[in-house]
Amino acid sequence: MESFEMFGVCFLFLSLLSMSSTLEMITPTQPLKDGTNENVTLVSTNGTFEAGFFSPANSGSRYLGIWYKTISPRTVVWVANKETPLQDHSGVLELDSDQGILSIKSGTGAKIWSSNASHTPSKPVAVELLESGNMVVKDGHNNLLWQSFDYPDDTLLPGMKLGMNLKTGHHRALRSWKSLNDPTPGEFSFGVDTRGLPQLVITKDSNDNIVFRPGSWNGVRVTGVPGQRTHPLTKSLFVMNEDEIYYEIQLLNSSTKLRSRLVPQGFQMRSIWSDESKGWDPLYTGSFDECERYGMCGANTICDVSGANQHCECLSGFRSNVADSGCDRTTPLDCNKGDSFKKYEGMKLPDTSSSWYDKRMSLDECQKLCLSNCSCTAYAQLNISANGSGCLQWFNDIVDFRILAQDGQDFYLRIAASKLQVGYVLDLSDHAFNRKKIGGIILGCTIFIIALLVFGSIFCLKRNKLKQTGELIMTKYCGRNVFLSA
Ligand SMILES: *[C@@H]1O[C@H](CO)[C@@H](O)[C@H](O)[C@H]1NC(C)=O
Ligand SMILES: *[C@@H]1O[C@H](CO)[C@@H](O)[C@H](O)[C@H]1NC(C)=O
Ligand SMILES: *[C@@H]1O[C@H](CO)[C@@H](O)[C@H](O)[C@H]1NC(C)=O
Ligand SMILES: *[C@@H]1O[C@H](CO)[C@@H](O)[C@H](O)[C@H]1NC(C)=O
Ligand SMILES: *[C@@H]1O[C@H](CO)[C@@H](O)[C@H](O)[C@H]1NC(C)=O
Ligand SMILES: *[C@@H]1O[C@H](CO)[C@@H](O)[C@H](O)[C@H]1NC(C)=O
Ligand SMILES: *[C@@H]1O[C@H](CO)[C@@H](O)[C@H](O)[C@H]1NC(C)=O
Repeated sequence: MESFEMFGVCFLFLSLLSMSSTLEMITPTQPLKDGTNENVTLVSTNGTFEAGFFSPANSGSRYLGIWYKTISPRTVVWVANKETPLQDHSGVLELDSDQGILSIKSGTGAKIWSSNASHTPSKPVAVELLESGNMVVKDGHNNLLWQSFDYPDDTLLPGMKLGMNLKTGHHRALRSWKSLNDPTPGEFSFGVDTRGLPQLVITKDSNDNIVFRPGSWNGVRVTGVPGQRTHPLTKSLFVMNEDEIYYEIQLLNSSTKLRSRLVPQGFQMRSIWSDESKGWDPLYTGSFDECERYGMCGANTICDVSGANQHCECLSGFRSNVADSGCDRTTPLDCNKGDSFKKYEGMKLPDTSSSWYDKRMSLDECQKLCLSNCSCTAYAQLNISANGSGCLQWFNDIVDFRILAQDGQDFYLRIAASKLQVGYVLDLSDHAFNRKKIGGIILGCTIFIIALLVFGSIFCLKRNKLKQTGELIMTKYCGRNVFLSA
C-alpha cells in the first residue's frame, strides 16, 4: 500500500514538473501556445500524429511542426516556419476567423509565418490534424480551406500528392532540409517534371538542374524504381488527367508507418517503421549506384553497372565524342532510305522531358509513326501493364539511359539503314552513288581497314614498348578519319 502511495505522489510531482496537454482542434478562440513549463499539442483522432512547437536536436530554436506521436526519437514530417524559427517559447499558432489564415506570432505579436488565404468565401471554423499527418483548416461544412499536404516539406507521406494541380498551376514538391537537424530549406527539390511524359525528378538549386531521375510511370511502376525496392504493404500510383498530374504512395494496411524523405544530400530515402526493432527500416535509397546520377555518361549512351564497375557505352550507331562527353551519331538518319530499329531490353527508359506520347496507339503503329517522322529517334511502349498499350517517342538525344538488373523495359532505338559498324564515317548523302559502287567501296575500305588494323597493331605494339600510356591515334584513310586505340 505504502509503495503505491509513494508512486502516486512521485507521479504527481513529475506531472507538475513537466505538464503537457493536448488539443483536438485549434479554433479562432483556442490557439495553440508554446510554453516553457507547459506545452500544448494538437493530436490526430487516433493519436498517430502530433503537431506543436519543438526544438530540433542540439538546437534551441522553436519551430511549429508535425511528427509521429508514438515514435521516439521524434520523427518530424512537416515544419511551418522553416526560415523563421523563434528563439524563445513565446510562439502562438492561431487561426484567423475571416480568411482562414493560419499564422504563427511571436511573443511581441509579430507575425513570423502564415499560410495562404483560402479562395472560398466560407468561414473557417477549425484546424485539425488528420490521421494521415495532414493539418487542415476546415469550414462549418467540413470542407477543406487549406491543408499542409499542399505545401510539402522534405517528407512524402502516404496519401500526399507530389505533382501539379493543372487548374491552379500549384506545384507540390519536396524540399530538402539544410541538414538532418536544420529545417532551413536546402538545395534539393523532388517533384514531377511535367514536360513531355511527366516524370519524377530531383533537382538541385534550380528546376532545370536534374541530379536524380526516378523517371516516368509505365503503368506498373516508376521506370527507374524496380519492384523489389518497394514494399508489399504499399502501392504507388501516378495520376494524369486534365485537372492534375501527381504521384502518390498508398498504404495497403493503414497501420503501416511509411515515410519517404528527401535527405539533405539530395536523394530519396524511403523507410518503414518496425515495431520489433523500434527503428526506421530503409526500403530503398534513390542513390544505390553510380548510374543513378543523372546523365552520368552523357548523351546517347548506356550506363551499366552489371559488371564490377560502372561503365558507359555508346548507343548503337553512335561513337564516343572525345571533345564532349557522350556520343555522336556516326551515320545521319535518312528517313527516305527506310531506317530500322534496334531493340534494347531490360532498360530504365531515358529522360522524357522532350518526348511525345499517345495512350491508344499500338506498338506497331508507334513504330510506323516513328519511321514516318524524320525527327523521331526512338520509341517504347507507354504502358506495360497487361499486354501493353500506348506509344512513347523521343525526338532528340537519348539522355540518362541505363541497364537495370531487374524490371527493365524494352526500348527501340532508330538506326540508319546505311549504318556501318566500323569506326569511320561513310557519307552516303551523295545520291549519285549506286548500290554496286557503294558495295565496292565498302569492301575495299574493309580490306584496307583490316590491313591497317594489322599494321596498326604491330605499329602500336612497338609504340607501346616505348610509351605505356593509352592514347588515340588518328589516321586518314579512304578520305575519312580512322581511329585506332593504342
Ligand atoms: C481510429 O481507430 C478506430 C479503431 O481502431 C478505427 O475504426 C478508425 O477507422 C480509426 N480512424 C482513423 C481516422 O483512422
Ligand atoms: C513538452 O515539455 C516537456 C517538458 O518540458 C518536454 O520534455 C517535451 O519535449 C516538450 N514537448 C515538445 C514537443 O517540445
Ligand atoms: C502562398 O501562395 C504563393 C503563390 O501561390 C506561394 O508562392 C507561397 O509559397 C504560398 N505561401 C505559403 C506559406 O505556402
Ligand atoms: C495501363 O494499362 C492498364 C491495363 O490496360 C490500365 O488499367 C491502366 O489504367 C493503364 N494505365 C495508364 C496510366 O494509362
Ligand atoms: C496490418 O498490420 C498490423 C500490424 O503489422 C497487423 O496486426 C494487421 O493484421 C494488419 N492488417 C491486415 C489487414 O493485414
Ligand atoms: C514529328 O513529331 C513531332 C512531335 O510529335 C511533331 O512536332 C512534328 O510535327 C512531327 N513531324 C512530322 C513531319 O510529322
Ligand atoms: C493479352 O493477350 C492475350 C493473347 O493475345 C489475350 O488472350 C488476352 O485477352 C489479352 N489480354 C488483355 C487484357 O488484353
